[in-house]
Amino acid sequence: MKEPQSSRRGFLKAAAGMTAVAAAAPALLASQSSKNGNFYGYEEKVVGLASKIKGAGEMDFNYPDVDSPCKAVMVNGQIKAYSLLCTHKGCPIMYNATKKAFRCPCHFSEFDAQLDGQMIIGQATENIPEILVKIEDDKIIAYGVNGLIYGRESNIKG
Ligand code: FES
Repeated sequence: MKEPQSSRRGFLKAAAGMTAVAAAAPALLASQSSKNGNFYGYEEKVVGLASKIKGAGEMDFNYPDVDSPCKAVMVNGQIKAYSLLCTHKGCPIMYNATKKAFRCPCHFSEFDAQLDGQMIIGQATENIPEILVKIEDDKIIAYGVNGLIYGRESNIKG
């Protein structure tokens, strides 16, 4: 029995389409996540001035959207930035410049600002997300988040 030409052609077209999607998927995923799957790239956004934070020692901003409060701090001569939402239950965490650590007032979890937001002690089981920043012409530019912002199923959706 001879197979109809049109269904074979349709099958080949569909297979070619699926192959193209499969080939493009890794490139798409690579732009959204790092090797460990925690890095989320966003549009670059100027969040402040490096000269200002160097004087004040810290600066609040929102990234990637208004529902995500963050803080940039000077740590050992470097600007580091983190989400201010505790990874345990989302309470706003506070920065202690002397300890170079963030502390949650709700259940006392602490996170090390020198170690990319690593959880030191407490109820939280995840590090606080680090906001990735770069400096260009004195501008602090945020461009990604390393970790999942509290309360979100995905950093991408918000
Ligand atoms: S909400 Fe921060 S430790 Fe519980």
